[in-house]
Amino acid sequence: MSETGTQSLTDDIPASGVFDPPAELAAQANVTQADYDRAAEDRLGFWADAAGRLDWTKPWDEVLDWTNPPFAKWFTGGELNVAVNCVDRHVDAGRGETVAYHWVGEPGDTRDITYAQLKDEVCRAANALTSLGVQAGDRVAIYLPMIPEAVVSMLACARIGAVHMVVFGGFSPDALASRVEDAGAKVVITADGGYRRGAPSALKPAVDEALTKVSGVDHVLVVKRTEQDVDWTEGRDQWWHDLVDGQSAEHEAQAFDAEHPLYIMYTSGTTAKPKGILHTSGGYLTQVSWTHWATFDLKRDTDVFWCAADVAWVTGHSYIVYGPLSNGATSVMYEGTPETPHRGRWWEIVQQYKVSILYAAPTVVRTFMKWGAQELEPFDTSTLRVLGSVGEPINPEAWLWYRKNVGGGTATVVDTWWQTETGAHMIAPMPGVTATKPGSAQRAIPGISAAVVDEEGKPIEPGATGYLVLTEPWPAMLRTIWGSDERYVETYWSRYGKDVYFAGDGAKLDEDGDIWLLGRVDDVMNVSGHRISTTEVESALVSHPTVAEAAVVGATDPTTGQGIVAFVILRGDAQDSGEDLVTTLRQHVRKEIGPIASPRQIMVVAELPKTRSGKIMRRLLRDVAENRELGDVSTLTDSSVMDLIGAKMPASS
Ligand code: WTA
Repeated sequence: MSETGTQSLTDDIPASGVFDPPAELAAQANVTQADYDRAAEDRLGFWADAAGRLDWTKPWDEVLDWTNPPFAKWFTGGELNVAVNCVDRHVDAGRGETVAYHWVGEPGDTRDITYAQLKDEVCRAANALTSLGVQAGDRVAIYLPMIPEAVVSMLACARIGAVHMVVFGGFSPDALASRVEDAGAKVVITADGGYRRGAPSALKPAVDEALTKVSGVDHVLVVKRTEQDVDWTEGRDQWWHDLVDGQSAEHEAQAFDAEHPLYIMYTSGTTAKPKGILHTSGGYLTQVSWTHWATFDLKRDTDVFWCAADVAWVTGHSYIVYGPLSNGATSVMYEGTPETPHRGRWWEIVQQYKVSILYAAPTVVRTFMKWGAQELEPFDTSTLRVLGSVGEPINPEAWLWYRKNVGGGTATVVDTWWQTETGAHMIAPMPGVTATKPGSAQRAIPGISAAVVDEEGKPIEPGATGYLVLTEPWPAMLRTIWGSDERYVETYWSRYGKDVYFAGDGAKLDEDGDIWLLGRVDDVMNVSGHRISTTEVESALVSHPTVAEAAVVGATDPTTGQGIVAFVILRGDAQDSGEDLVTTLRQHVRKEIGPIASPRQIMVVAELPKTRSGKIMRRLLRDVAENRELGDVSTLTDSSVMDLIGAKMPASS
C-alpha cells in the first residue's frame, strides 16, 4: 500500500526467517547453551545454583518439596531476608553510591536514589511500620502512584516479614475495598495524589471511601506528592513524612523462612472475582533475580534498565523492584504516561539516562507505531540494546517496528511470556543463544518445562494448536490463591491432573518447536468448526500498512457458530476510505490467514476499550458486536470509549 507512505516491515526479516544473536552480544552473553544443557540434565541443581546468587542466612535442606502437589515448597528450611538481598548486601559490598533508581516524575521533577539512600529509607519505613504495630505475616495495602515511596513501602514490608498487597492507583474505591477486605489488610499506605496526563489526580479520597466499606484498617499513611487538599481522619491518618522521616535509619533485619509469604497480587478480574495470587520469598526471588539477569542479559555495571510498567502489576513487582534490586542494577522509574507532555517523552528519558534495556507492552509499541517513527527522531536512543515485550502476544509487525525504530535495527527483542501466577519469565528467548522469530515467545527458559497439549493433555504435533501447560513446578510459582486452596487447585491444577499447570493460554507449535502464544483460551473463536485465535486475526490486520491497532472478537452467528468482528484503529497517515478500506482489509486477512479468518464486519474506530493494565477488553467489544447491553465497565480506563464505538454499530436487527 505505497499510497499510505508506510512500508512493510517484513522486508527486514532475514531469509532464514530469524534474527541471529548479534555476535558481540553472544560473545559476552550471560546465558549460553551450556545453561540449557545443565538445566535439562539437572533442573533442581540448576535452580539451586540460581538460588546461590542470593545471600541466605541459613542454607536450605531440600531444593523442592513436591510431595503434596500442587502445593510446592522451594528451598525448604532455608532462611533469608528479601529486602536485605535487594538493598543491604549491595551497600555492604561497597556499592552504596550506585544509583538504584533514576526516578522521573511526570511534571519533570527527578530524584536519583542510591542503594545507600534506599537502605536508609527502607529501614526508616520498616521502623515506622513496626511502630504502628505491624508484625510479620500482617498484610499492608499499598495504593500509591509511581513514586519511590511505593518501592520503599514494599521493601519495608519485606524487611519485617509483612505481606504487601499493592493495588493499582487507577482502581476504584470499590476495587480497593474488596481487595483490602479479602487480604485483611490492617494498614493502607497511600498519597494525596499522583500526576497523570499532566494533572494531579487524587488518591486519598478513594481510600477514604473504600474504608467506609471495610473495617480492620487501623492506620493510613499518606505520602505528600501533589499537595492536594485531603480530608483527614484523626487517629487513623498520618503523614508519611511525619512518621517515617523521624525514624532511625538503623534496623536489624530478621531472616524469614524461604516459604514466608512476600506478597499478594490480585489478578485483573476481567472474568470472575479477583484472585489473590500469593507469592513467597526464596523461590520467587531466585527466579525473578535469575531471569532479570538472564533474559535481559543484564550487565550490572554498564546497563541502565527501564521496565515501563506500573509498579502495581506483577511486571512492576518482579522487574521494577525485586529483579533489578536483587541484581544491584540501575533502573529508571517513570511516574507518568508516554504522551505527557509530548509524544517523545520516553525517548527523551532514554536519551537522558542512556537506557540500554527497555521492557514494555505490545500495546504501547503499537501506540508508538500509530504516532509514527518521527517522534523518536529528535532523540538519541542508540544506547538501547535489548528490548523486552510482555503482557500479550506481540504481532510480528509490532515486533519488527520495535526492533527497527526503537532498537535502531540492531537491538535484540525478547518476547517474554509469563503471568501474575508464574511470578517470573517462563517462555522467552535468551539474547545470546536464541535466534529470534518475530511474534513468537519461542522456548521455555532453562529450568522451566512447558508443553502444548490437546484436550486430553497429549502433546500436539508441530503445526497444531492447543493449550499451554507447565509440566514441572518452578521456583516463582504462585503457592495458592489467598484464602482459597480449593480455588487454587480447581483453577490451575485440575484440568490435566494435580501436577500439570493449566495456563489458560492457547498456543501453537511451529515446525521448529517454537511456541506462538494465541491469547487466552476464552479469546479463541470457533468459526464453522475452525479454531481461530483473535490474536492471529489481529496480527494479520496490524500487518496491513494502514492499521495501527486491531481488536477482534467472535460474535455469535446463526450459521457459523461465531463470526469475526474486527475493530481497527488506523495509522496516523492512513485514510479511512470507507467500504474500499474494509474490502482491502478483508482481502488482506484472507491472504494472510485464509478465507475462514475473513472478518464478517470491520469497524474503524478512534480508540479501543482497555483495562488499566492495557489489556483490550474484548468482552465489551463482544457486547457491542452482539448488540447487547454493555457489561461492567468499571475497570476501563475511559468508559466514554464505548459510547463512541457503540455509535458506529449498525442498529440492532
Ligand atoms: C498474556 C503479565 C503472549 C497471557 C506478566 C497470560 C502474553 C497473561 C505474554 C498474563 C506474551 C503475557 N505473549 N501473551 N509475551 N505475556 N501474556 O497476569 O495471556 O497480567 O496468560 O501477567 O497475559 O497476564 P498477567
